[in-house]
Amino acid sequence: MKAPGWFSRLSRRGVASNAVEREAWRRLDASIVRYRGEPVGTIASGDGDAPAQNYDHVFTRDFFVSAVAFLLRGEHEIVRNFLRVALDLQSADHHMDCFRPGQGMMPASFRVAGTGAEERLEPDFGEHAIARVTPIDSGFWWLYLLHAYTRASGDESLAKSDAMQRGIRLILELCLPPRHEMLPTLLVPDGAFMIDRRLGVYGHPLDIQVLFHLALRAADGLLDVPVDDPLRRAVAERESHLAHHLRHYYWLDMATLNRIYRYQVEELGADAANPFNIRPDTIPEWLFEWMPRDGGYFAGNLGPARLDVRLFSQGNLLAVLSGLADREQAQAILNLFESRREDLLGETPVKLVFPALEGRDWQLLTGGDPKNAPWSYHNGGNWPFLLWLFTAAAIRAGRREFAAEVLDAVEERLAAEQWAEYYDGRGGRLVGKEARLDQTWSVAGYLAARRMLANPDAIDFLGFGAPSTATSCDAGSRAPA
Ligand code: GLC
Repeated sequence: MKAPGWFSRLSRRGVASNAVEREAWRRLDASIVRYRGEPVGTIASGDGDAPAQNYDHVFTRDFFVSAVAFLLRGEHEIVRNFLRVALDLQSADHHMDCFRPGQGMMPASFRVAGTGAEERLEPDFGEHAIARVTPIDSGFWWLYLLHAYTRASGDESLAKSDAMQRGIRLILELCLPPRHEMLPTLLVPDGAFMIDRRLGVYGHPLDIQVLFHLALRAADGLLDVPVDDPLRRAVAERESHLAHHLRHYYWLDMATLNRIYRYQVEELGADAANPFNIRPDTIPEWLFEWMPRDGGYFAGNLGPARLDVRLFSQGNLLAVLSGLADREQAQAILNLFESRREDLLGETPVKLVFPALEGRDWQLLTGGDPKNAPWSYHNGGNWPFLLWLFTAAAIRAGRREFAAEVLDAVEERLAAEQWAEYYDGRGGRLVGKEARLDQTWSVAGYLAARRMLANPDAIDFLGFGAPSTATSCDAGSRAPA
């Protein structure tokens, strides 16, 4: 008997989907880097046809995505080894030498050099990177990974070891002390995170602030000291102020846009309604039309007389996953992704930044960078590695079906186009001009998303609430208003 049309469609998709998944696991396994015989990470790209540059390194931020996939497959060893190796490479001496990485910094990437008895690890803190950009995100990804590993494996002994506790403290001591500002956010230079080229992201970029918040939450649970220990108290206090600051001042929806539209300027004093002196006419007109009534998102950056309204997907989706976005905000972000799907997901999800910088903005803010031409690479390109995060955030906000539909629609093309690093164009239709193929985090992002869709409760290890309420949102802590 012939199967009904819908059944054969379904089963065909199932077979193809399984083949894509098997092939993706094969590629992820092939990307594993060994040190003294042990798996310690994954290379950024296995594309043998493109110049290696530093794509043969293990990048901390890229490995996080591989680690999520491995943990979802029940593999803990490679993640444990990576956490140890990165800790060994952490800059641990106290010094005042501005040419060496500061105490507590974690490398952007490392590689295994030499062979046999000569084998050694060579970290890069940005000294060898294009434009010598410094990674501020590495220590935060490391802390978040230690949290995720501990929850996924149940192994508390690693985090409790003296060496790990010292590593956690060093990261905190690097970012908690007051510097030249009196705000809970971190002041960072351009190119200090996933966007590691100039793109006008200096100041207080959302992606770093959300990661900082995540790292503080992770540290709060990992520090093996009583709750009234001064460091733990400082962590909890900063986390709460930071969360309040982001939820309050970065949040954009129709109500806040309307408030900004009617702002007074040049106000003095602590009671100013417009504390950052944002001029209403700096908000681009398209945003008033584009923002759905039931949508919202966290702005990309905030500083004196500066509200960068570009939407950075990584920061927004991480905020949903971590609970930094409260319940309503999490729903509004997912509503926005649904109703502005063509702009934010396009044909190859997910848009990294929307919209692109164009014309004079592009010239001034990127330094006329051809790699970051409008709607390319970081500047409005689409990055499949973000599928893990989009899927996790959607599940957390109770939108599993939406995420499943998005992944089903793209997986075969991702495989056919050989796991490209990024896509170009408004709709993400073209394989990026300089995109590497066989990009490990594109493979791992897909695999993690597939596993999460198969078992939505499995995302618990990425969260902070009591285990297993995968479809609800934990609002996290709130500072007093
Ligand atoms: C590019 C990306 C960076 C990534 C690296 C390795 O430099 O901008 O975020 O870590 O490639 O994939």
